[in-house]
Amino acid sequence: MHKDVKSILIEEAAIEEKCAELGSIITNYYSDSEKPLVLVALLKGSVPFLARLIKYIDLDIEYDFMDVSSYEGTNSTRDIKILKDLDRSIKDVNILLVEDIVDTGHTIEAIINLLNNKGAAEVKVVSLLDKPSRREANVKADFVGFEIPNEFVIGFGLDFNEKYRQLPYIGILKDEIYQ
Ligand code: IMP
Repeated sequence: MHKDVKSILIEEAAIEEKCAELGSIITNYYSDSEKPLVLVALLKGSVPFLARLIKYIDLDIEYDFMDVSSYEGTNSTRDIKILKDLDRSIKDVNILLVEDIVDTGHTIEAIINLLNNKGAAEVKVVSLLDKPSRREANVKADFVGFEIPNEFVIGFGLDFNEKYRQLPYIGILKDEIYQ
């Protein structure tokens, strides 16, 4: 275990098993659709999750990346600035947004709106982690790996100051590291 990690919340084997489970649920969900399916992963945190998940989706898919930064907009809503947009048109395409964690929900809310405005046929969200106790926006992920308590977690793509993304498990950071 990394020296800055207090405890492991989700082991690597459990993440792999969950990706297999989610992959089969997603395969079933889209198996009757004639429309193209594009997985849209948000940089950078969702990269390890995307890589594991797609092994278990038994359909023709494409994947693409978006990078956004969020900031406090007017009326204390959150606005997002697009740092990297999609490479293709998504008109009449099924979109599965791939997130590492849904926390307040502001990020996925803004991106769901944006993708709907671009003419997507349907926008669904798969998130490896969900912290429902922190939710502010009225959104939820359609497919969730694990609900977790209100702890700051790192690993498997999740960072603190850009560190710890490479850890193969989800861990809780020692308090002294981020206080
Ligand atoms: P939201 O807009 O508050 O739902 O924030 C989602 C984003 O916040 C995630 O994609 C992560 O980048 C970041 N985030 C939220 N909670 C954590 C955490 O516990 N550890 C690391 N990053 C987090």
